[in-house]
Order: sequence, then C-alpha cells, then structure tokens
Amino acid sequence: MLSGVMRFFFVFLVSIVIHPAFAQDIVVKANAPVSRIQPHMWGIFFEDINMGADGGIYAELIKNRSFEFFKPLMGWKTQGKKLKEGDMLVLNQQNEKPSNPRFLRVTARQASVGDLGLTNEGFRGMGIKKGVRYDFSLQYRHAGAPMKLHVMLEDSLSNIVGRAELSLDASAAWTTRSASFESNATLMKANFRMWIEGDGILDLDMISLFPSDTWKGRPGGMRSDMVQWLADLKPGFIRFPGGCIVEGFDLSNRYRWKNTIGPLDQRQLMINRWNIEFPHRSAPDYFQTFGLGFFEYFQLAEDIGSEALPILNCGMACQYNSAELASLDDLGPYIQDALDLIEFANGDTSTQWGRVRAGLGHPAPFNLKMMGIGNENWGPQYIERLKRFTTAIHARYPEFRIVNSSGTDPDGERFNYLDVELRKMNASYIDEHYYRRPEWFLQNASRYDNYPREGSKIFAGEYAAQTDRGASMNNKNNWRGALSEAAFMTGLERNAAVVEMASYAPLFAHADGWQWKPDLIWVNNLQSYGTPNYYVQKLFATNKGTHEVPVTANNEILAGRDSLYACAALDTAAGEVIIKLVNASGKPVTRSIVLDGIKKAEPKGRLILLQHESPDAENTFEQPLNVSPVEKEIKIQGKKLQVDLPASSFSVIRVKIK
Ligand code: AHR
Repeated sequence: MLSGVMRFFFVFLVSIVIHPAFAQDIVVKANAPVSRIQPHMWGIFFEDINMGADGGIYAELIKNRSFEFFKPLMGWKTQGKKLKEGDMLVLNQQNEKPSNPRFLRVTARQASVGDLGLTNEGFRGMGIKKGVRYDFSLQYRHAGAPMKLHVMLEDSLSNIVGRAELSLDASAAWTTRSASFESNATLMKANFRMWIEGDGILDLDMISLFPSDTWKGRPGGMRSDMVQWLADLKPGFIRFPGGCIVEGFDLSNRYRWKNTIGPLDQRQLMINRWNIEFPHRSAPDYFQTFGLGFFEYFQLAEDIGSEALPILNCGMACQYNSAELASLDDLGPYIQDALDLIEFANGDTSTQWGRVRAGLGHPAPFNLKMMGIGNENWGPQYIERLKRFTTAIHARYPEFRIVNSSGTDPDGERFNYLDVELRKMNASYIDEHYYRRPEWFLQNASRYDNYPREGSKIFAGEYAAQTDRGASMNNKNNWRGALSEAAFMTGLERNAAVVEMASYAPLFAHADGWQWKPDLIWVNNLQSYGTPNYYVQKLFATNKGTHEVPVTANNEILAGRDSLYACAALDTAAGEVIIKLVNASGKPVTRSIVLDGIKKAEPKGRLILLQHESPDAENTFEQPLNVSPVEKEIKIQGKKLQVDLPASSFSVIRVKIK
C-alpha cells in the first residue's frame, strides 16, 4: 500500500508526464547548427493551369487576339447594320506567317460607326479600372483610301466607359498601330467593341488591349497585383512552366521554349492541355498564347530575386494521357533544346543563344544554375532518356544541377524504382510530389529524418494537402489543410541537409476559370487574395534563417507527439533564433522554451501567429484576411520563454541573441 505522501508524489509524477502544463521544456540548441538552409529553400511553382497565365497574370485583355484558336472566332462576335455574309472572313496564309497564319479580312462598304464591327468578351469578361490607361494595338494592311477604327470598352448595358480612334492609312505590308485611352469606370466584366469606318478591304491581326498598370509598368506585361503576391513571398526559386504542361497530352502538345520567345506574332499558339483534361471543368477557350514565355519567366525570376528553375520535356508525353515517347534515335533535338536553353540563359553575347537573349533586351546573363528534365515521368523509359540528357549537359556544363522526376507519387513501386535508379546516377535533385490528405502531411512530418544525408538532395517540387482527395473539385484551401502543410514543412526545414528546395502547387487559380483545387492564390478579373496555405508558405519563406538547429522535448524531435511539430533555425545575419511550432490539436497548450547554448537573449522577441479556431476556415474575396498572421511581442526571461500555442495554430518566434 502507498502511504499518503507517496501517493501524492505518484499522482504528481503521473500528472507531469501526461499533463501538457507539466510537459517537458522545449529545448533549442541555438549554438549547434546542424546544417545550412539553402537560401533558395522555399520557392514557387508556376504553371499555366486555372487561367494562371493567359487570362491571369499575363495581362492581355483580348481573348484569341490572333484568330488562332481552334475555332478562329472564339471570343469574338461580328456585328453591325451593314454586316453581310462574307464581310468578315478568317483567312489562312501559311507561307507568309507560318506561326500565325490566320487573320481577319473585313470588306467595308462606306461603313461608319454601327455598320460593321466586332466585340471581344475577354477572359470571362475584362477587369478594368477607373483612371487607368488602356493600350490598344493591332496589325493591319489595306490598299485603298484611309480608313478609321473606333475602339471602346463598354459595360454590360453597352455604355461606353473609354474610347479611342485610330486612322489607318493605306499600307500594303502589315503595319502595327496603337492608341491609348482611359477608363472612366471600374468594371469586373467589361466588353471590348470595335467599329470600322471607311471603304475597302482591311486585314486585321494581333488585336490587343493591355492595362498600363502592369508590373513595373512594362507594356504588354503582367498583372501587378498577381506578381506582388509572388514578390511578397520572397521565393528562393521559381519553377516554370509546369507541371504536366511541360509534357503535353502528346508530344506535339509538349512545351517548347523556343516557340515562346521573340516577337509575339511569332510565338505559335497552342491548345492548353488543361483545356481538355477534366470534362467536369471543361475550358474550351483555354489556349497558350505564350505572351508569357521563357524570356518573361527569366525576367520575372530576376525581378523577384528568385533562382530560375525551368523544367523541360524529356522526350515523353504525359503518361496518364498518350504516354507517347520520342524514340531514342530522335532524342537529339530535345537534348539540344536543353543545351541551348543554358546558352540562352548564361551564354555571353558572342554565342548564338546569348545573342538572342541580348536581342530581347537582356545582354547580361541570367545565371541559370539548374533545370528539370521531365515533370512527372517514370519507368525505365524515363531513366534511359534522362541518362542521355545528363551525359550531354554535364559534358558541356559539369557543375550544372539537374532536377530529376520521381514520378507522380511519394511512394509505391514507380517511386521506389526511380529512387534507386536516380541515386545510382548520383542525381543532383530528386523531385518528389505529394498531393495527399491532411492526415498524410501530419503523419509524414518525419519523412526525411532517416533519409540518406549523402548523395542526391530532395526537391519537394509539388505539394498541397487535398482536403477531399487528389485533384477533387471539392478540395478546399482551408485551415485544416494549411496547418497540416505547416506541420509537414517543419520536417522539411529540420532536414535542410536533405531537402534543399520545396514549392506548393499549383500557384494561381481564377475563380471563373479553374480546373484544379486547392491553389495558393485566388484571383478574379480585378481582385486577388492569399489562401491560408499562402500565409503558411510566406511564414516559412520569410523566416527561414541560415542554419538549422536542433529543437527537442525530452530529447525527442517534435514531429507529432502531443500533436506538436517544430523546427528551429539560426539567422546568422540577423543574429536571431527562429522557432516554428505547430499545435495541430484542438486544445491550447502552454510550453516553455529554453534557448540552450547562448549567452543571453534580448528580453523582447516577436511572435507571429497564424491561427483559426475552425479548421474549415477559408479566405475569400470578401474576407481575404480571415486566416492571416498577427504579430505580437513576447517576453524572454534570461534564456527562457513561455509560449501559449492556441488550438490549431502555427507560431513563428523570433528572438535576438547575443
Ligand atoms: O499542379 C497540378 C499538376 O499536378 C501538375 O501539372 C502536375 O505536375 C501534377 O500532377
């Protein structure tokens, strides 16, 4: 029998073990850096999916500007009192403009405003803003007396909110004309209209309308609000242009970077594979104009201070679609594209492709250091193609790093086969993808704790918690998913010696034109907001530190015990310790943190808290900051601090040390 005193101690001891209030201190060994955290650790993944590029970040407002869509007048309507059959014809002249053969031939008979015209509906309407200048341009040719164009933006009741006139002098050769005007209204879904005045035959092509308030005010540039979301993440790298779009549903539909640079009318348009991928989210008007092409991707990377990470086709089309293969004998041009891309990015201006880059306005090299070969490709066919790429690239650029695919899933036969083969090849990076339920993310926070420290490094190239199931329409960007990603990401950062890069996927989705959920940033024609997942990414990327340091409780890493997850880093430049803590339970917890191995800490630190009581909470256009970080001061006593970790919360603590 236990005496009264003994019983008291027994109960006390048991309560220490099981009660969180008596839980062990969390110990951060601030003077014991384990490994360096790559400056490019947290990056972004850009793909033209969900109207991410055309209709999204690429600010062109006219849909099907060159009449090259599968249905040449898609997005356009012909109209007017004098319009007769045959007055507006789409002509195809391959020999003259092989990459943009179609144009519109208009026959006008003493036409004036209201007689003969066209409207364009834009990408689910056109978002326009009061007081902003709109820049219109087109290519034309005609042989007769001068003609005129009246161009305008209208609201849904056909009220004109901005207009301009252009006179078109006779020109036998294709000529570009432009005019600008201001909008006097803000509209989510404006229309574009154009009336033709004059007499004769008029050929029209490349009819374009851009807002002037693009990113850095670049003509024909990108939507500045969307780029700003990316810049704010301070991403270490930008992976582009995909994704499955690299592979294409067959090889003819694969992404070819050389078709995406130079004059816009020479960038041969192609159907976007997401146009036909999901019957339940059909997008018949989804094409790639490549107005956002490889030069612009490199420029974007430079603008936002990120490393460029292009992914190239490896001679294999999407294995879920056609699984078409380029024969090994025909692989030469694919490999040449990779070699030429390195020269395009890095070659001096005396090289063929360096000269092309300089001609596009960027004589200085882009300093490309890595490239992916293949997206989600698998099997021995991938390995045999990849080996040829690797040999050719390393023969010319021995230090160049290659990102290699480990397939579509983070486990299973395909993954295991590739993991073994890629490690045998001493692959620089193995690209792992995880589209899994939130529970998987929580359970896999220690995935990399036992990965080999030597040899190939990991690129977590695409991941997102699927709150329903993989690629389901019912997936949500809710707090449950985002918190599970935060927990998982503590495991990535804790294993910075193994995982050198990571990116959430996909990046953008247009509310009226998406195919895939969840996504990091949602937009409509005028607005944009970051999801809870965005704020998780931002907190990691902007608080990454320079070196990973150990964080334990009871000598154990925090990777799920008591639903707590943690990682810690030293920021040698800022002289700070950064601790990230996820409480994935439905109960608040208070824990003490000991900063071991330091002389002293500043008495005040910063706590950035991302939290919501409801796991179902989401951000919306109406409530964009429903789940968003708040910052407060915390007190440090000597080397110790106490933190309250609310239920379902992600906390980042920054403490200055001496
Ligand atoms: O991110 C959406 C798609 O998911 C990507 O295109 C592909 O790589 C993955 O299967």
